[in-house]
Amino acid sequence: MSEAAEGGLPLRPFADSRALASTAAELIAAGLRGAIARSGQASLAVAGGTTPADTYRRLSSLALDWPNVTIVPTDERWVEPSSPDSNQRFLHETLLQGPAAAARFIPLWSDAATPEAAAARAASQVAAVDPFDVVVLGMGEDGHFASLFPGSPVLAEGLDLSGASLCIGVPAGDPAPPQPRISLTFRAFQHVERILLLITGDTKRRVLEDVWLGDRDLPVGSLRRLDRGAVQILWSP
Ligand code: 6PG
Repeated sequence: MSEAAEGGLPLRPFADSRALASTAAELIAAGLRGAIARSGQASLAVAGGTTPADTYRRLSSLALDWPNVTIVPTDERWVEPSSPDSNQRFLHETLLQGPAAAARFIPLWSDAATPEAAAARAASQVAAVDPFDVVVLGMGEDGHFASLFPGSPVLAEGLDLSGASLCIGVPAGDPAPPQPRISLTFRAFQHVERILLLITGDTKRRVLEDVWLGDRDLPVGSLRRLDRGAVQILWSP
């Protein structure tokens, strides 16, 4: 991992988002192929939002033993899977296409009464594929990742590596998230060997620099607690 000249932010710059997506897709595929070679199966946790869309479309077309890959969202909005806001819908439209449509998908959303109940349901299935072999994360300009938001009443639980929870319900907050969420916890990323954080734009890069170099206290800073070699930050303008 080349460190940026700014002095220590472990960030890999790309000329544009297409170049970032191409490399990210290959890095994810390589991690999955390695896991399958070792154990016959692989698990992948993937962020929603918008940034990873091109990465997922490229990844979906790559030759992999997809029937032995399990895909789990890193987080989900508390909306029906048919909603335009649904990460499950986004992932089916971008990643679970072509060859990758053969992968096993574990949704975080279910018709439970509350996000907390849905999270509890999902947690047992997530536990069966924990630790993930590869995780793809995005980041908000507020420094959240997955659905672990600054100021959230469940943030401490979500970031607690000594906690038992792998998946929690997240209440709507002000300013974010606008709707309740379900989120994997940081505990679910603790022993992952390949975590790709995909970000674009100068604002997000500045947020990361403030966190990594200036000790600004935001959820994304927790990634510094992981094995240094595990986290790769891919950035493009
Ligand atoms: C979500 C994501 C979330 C996302 C960031 C960045 O449900 O929105 O999982 O954590 O990664 O909000 O989103 P963008 O890629 O759209 O900027």
